[in-house]
Amino acid sequence: MLPIFIVFEGVDGSGKSTQLHLLHKYLTDKKIATYTTREPGGTPVGEKIRELLLDPAFSEMQERTEALLYVAARAQLVAQVIRPRLEQGDVVLCDRYIDSTVAYQGYGRGMNVDFLVNINKLGTGGLQPQLTILLDISPEEGLARSRQERPADRLEKESLAFYQRVRQGYLDLTKKNRSDYLVLDARLPLEELHRIICDTVGGMVGV
Ligand code: TMP
Repeated sequence: MLPIFIVFEGVDGSGKSTQLHLLHKYLTDKKIATYTTREPGGTPVGEKIRELLLDPAFSEMQERTEALLYVAARAQLVAQVIRPRLEQGDVVLCDRYIDSTVAYQGYGRGMNVDFLVNINKLGTGGLQPQLTILLDISPEEGLARSRQERPADRLEKESLAFYQRVRQGYLDLTKKNRSDYLVLDARLPLEELHRIICDTVGGMVGV
């Protein structure tokens, strides 16, 4: 089996982390070596960067600082975890990756997308996932769900218009490269989403 790197994306409250963990369990039950990680974070260095990025106290953080910190955490994760795991034959599942930077910093904040793509190439050496699963939901519904679970972090204090641009960013990305994406309506029942995801990924890993 070729190395398989799968990314879950979506606005906050889309349910991507729940689906990722259900898929992890499904694959490990089928005896497929699977490693799950998240962004920003997934390494000791990355988790420290995550604290900086999400701390609501840092309202003064500049957009370039923010973008570079996301890429710095990603560079560490790719080098320390994702590439070694893929090389040893694991399926790697990651909660967010480069598309999050394009959607949030590019579409959300209005930063230049080519600039963001370039700094990501530098940070990751060009590593791309075989499949990105986008759980699409309106920001109104997504944010209402995540507010029920915990207080808003620095990003979640952004306006609804910001999140609408983020959602549009994701949808534009999927239109450019349809074959690499599975786009799902995040309002579908949890079990139905899980079944569709297992069917798609099962085909890739041969279970
Ligand atoms: P999480 O809540 O899914 O763990 O993600 C943390 C927040 O960071 C979320 O609001 C999305 C945001 N984010 C970006 O703005 N750019 C990025 O590149 C990544 C990975 C996350």
